[in-house]
Amino acid sequence: MTTLDAEQQDASWRGGGEKLRGRVAFVTGGTRGIGAAICKSLGNQHATVAAGYGHNVERAKAFADDYEELLGVRPSLYHGNVASAEDCRRTVGEVLEQHGRLDILVNNAGITIDKTVAKMTDEDWYTVLAVNLSGAFFMAQAALAHMVERGSGRIINVSSVVGETGNVGQANYSASKSGLFGLTKTLAKEAAFQLARAGKNTEDGIGLTVNTVTPGFIATEMVAAMPAKVLEKIKGQIPVGRLGRPEEIARVVHFLAADASSYITGQVWGVNGGLDM
Ligand SMILES: NC(=O)c1ccc[n+]([C@@H]2O[C@H](COP(=O)([O-])OP(=O)(O)OC[C@H]3O[C@@H](n4cnc5c(N)ncnc54)[C@H](OP(=O)(O)O)[C@@H]3O)[C@@H](O)[C@H]2O)c1
Repeated sequence: MTTLDAEQQDASWRGGGEKLRGRVAFVTGGTRGIGAAICKSLGNQHATVAAGYGHNVERAKAFADDYEELLGVRPSLYHGNVASAEDCRRTVGEVLEQHGRLDILVNNAGITIDKTVAKMTDEDWYTVLAVNLSGAFFMAQAALAHMVERGSGRIINVSSVVGETGNVGQANYSASKSGLFGLTKTLAKEAAFQLARAGKNTEDGIGLTVNTVTPGFIATEMVAAMPAKVLEKIKGQIPVGRLGRPEEIARVVHFLAADASSYITGQVWGVNGGLDM
């Protein structure tokens, strides 16, 4: 077999596994694109899924319908702007109130406002940093105290290959995505330290880990918004020769979320078709 047809790709949601049964996962920007694929992948491992979104209520409802049809249970939905520290604290609180626990936080919500440095306004800069970087910080801050108290947890940040390589027209976006590397490593160190201090860092425990995934160019609405010419040029630079699929990011996220991944923390996982070689 040399190709994956649509049905085979879709089949990856069926059957599923038990790796995350009993776990509660909150995925920001979980209602579209990569986030929706992450939700389905976590749900497919029997996690209870909470999906956050920014403003698109219709898309959030359509996602919940689709998820329910595929997996037989309805995900809970949370409306909030991750650029607002207050909304981050409120939505984490709502997930805890509804589900009683939070085991896995995926900071996936992200935006682009692409312009060259010369044309970038103050607002373009601050808006992207606020959603992509500050959002991950405030969400993690709100989740961490609960995870330390319970003695375990997984935080997974969705960065970008552009955070490693930079990209013309994306100073704000690439800076926000590079910022996630420093945030991830600091959170990973503080999480391990706090767990040890609380006497909850046992030899056989599942631990409290923080990692980052860096997607390359993935076929979602974010990439569809790029000019066709630019996209063709980028495709030509990807050794694997194609855009990635959201499911290909989701597999790495659910791998990192599993209890058995307790020895992986503070790491940056590239899923980019070889683009950063
Ligand atoms: N696609 C790629 O090629 C690619 C490559 C590398 C990294 N990434 C990263 O992967 C993540 C997902 O990308 P995607 O392509 O799946 O994006 P997408 O299709 O544009 O979806 C973005 C999601 O984030 C939510 N969101 C946006 N702004 C928000 C805010 N202020 N507060 C709360 N939620 C907000 C959106 O909610 P609404 O529906 O309500 O707007 C939506 O659910 C992003 O962090 C992106 O930077 C993507």
